[in-house]
Amino acid sequence: MKDLISLHDLSAEEVKSLLELGLKLKDENKKGIEHHILKGKTLGMIFTKSSTRTRVSFEVGMTQLGGYPLFLSSNDIQLGRGESIHDTAKVLERYLDGIMIRTFAHSDVVELAEEADIPVINALTDLLHPCQVLADLMTAYEHKGGLEGLKLAYVGDGNNMAHSLMYGCAKAGLDCAVATPAKYRCDAEVVKNAEADFAAAGRTLTLTEDPFEAVKDADIVYTDTWVSMGQESEKEEKIKVFGGYQVNDELFGAAKHDALFMHCLPAYRGFEVTESVIDGPRSVIFDEAENRLHAQKAVMAALMG
Ligand code: CP
Ligand code: NVA
Repeated sequence: MKDLISLHDLSAEEVKSLLELGLKLKDENKKGIEHHILKGKTLGMIFTKSSTRTRVSFEVGMTQLGGYPLFLSSNDIQLGRGESIHDTAKVLERYLDGIMIRTFAHSDVVELAEEADIPVINALTDLLHPCQVLADLMTAYEHKGGLEGLKLAYVGDGNNMAHSLMYGCAKAGLDCAVATPAKYRCDAEVVKNAEADFAAAGRTLTLTEDPFEAVKDADIVYTDTWVSMGQESEKEEKIKVFGGYQVNDELFGAAKHDALFMHCLPAYRGFEVTESVIDGPRSVIFDEAENRLHAQKAVMAALMG
């Protein structure tokens, strides 16, 4: 495992061992035990999109591991003015020990990982968001005491979160149901890959347009913004189409009585979720946000340590 580009590329064992390491690092962090396993190493962090959680958790995580995080805004580096990914990769590998990248085209991250001899971590593309899902699986494990056999229902846009959740659930042994409007279904190739992963794991994947069908018997109800970064011009149109996909008391109440509510954040209360659900007692959104730190420390330790 050189890079973390997609959870589909990892074996079930690799995903499980990253989760175990994340939980161990979290426990040790709470006890004040330090691990400077990345001492003297530098992680370059390329952002062509905004971020709160990803930037802060990677910077803090790298610092806690004794390394140095270098923030690289695409406005400030030559990549943003048209320097090729190939040349950027060949230059950065001479200085850095790893690259984290958040950008639009997934193919750019794949190309960067192919061209660079150092580890590349996908910190969100239009297609996938694997680091978030590692944190989410860690959170589900902590609250449910295990993952195998749980059911996660995702309701909303067939976006990067839906895609990575499908991959992550299959590898970690959860069943998954995804409800999207017909116009905003998941990517067909991701669905094909995910179906193969669920078949290999002996778990089920359900794709539907009916949010109530998806949340039936769910242990976790997950949603995300209807308007992802880069889709701002589609906002009005999408809000109309997604009206029936809001996670409100009625929909959340149709899941198991002890179901958790999850959201990667940032959230838009009154759109994809109501205040009553996201700020309610079964919402674990801030545990998910915290676990970005611990899960990504595990990823960096595994790839760069
Ligand atoms: N969930 C997440 O990736 O948040 P940011 O966009 O703030 O990094
Ligand atoms: N789907 C959202 C996730 C943000 C963390 C986006 O891509 O904007």
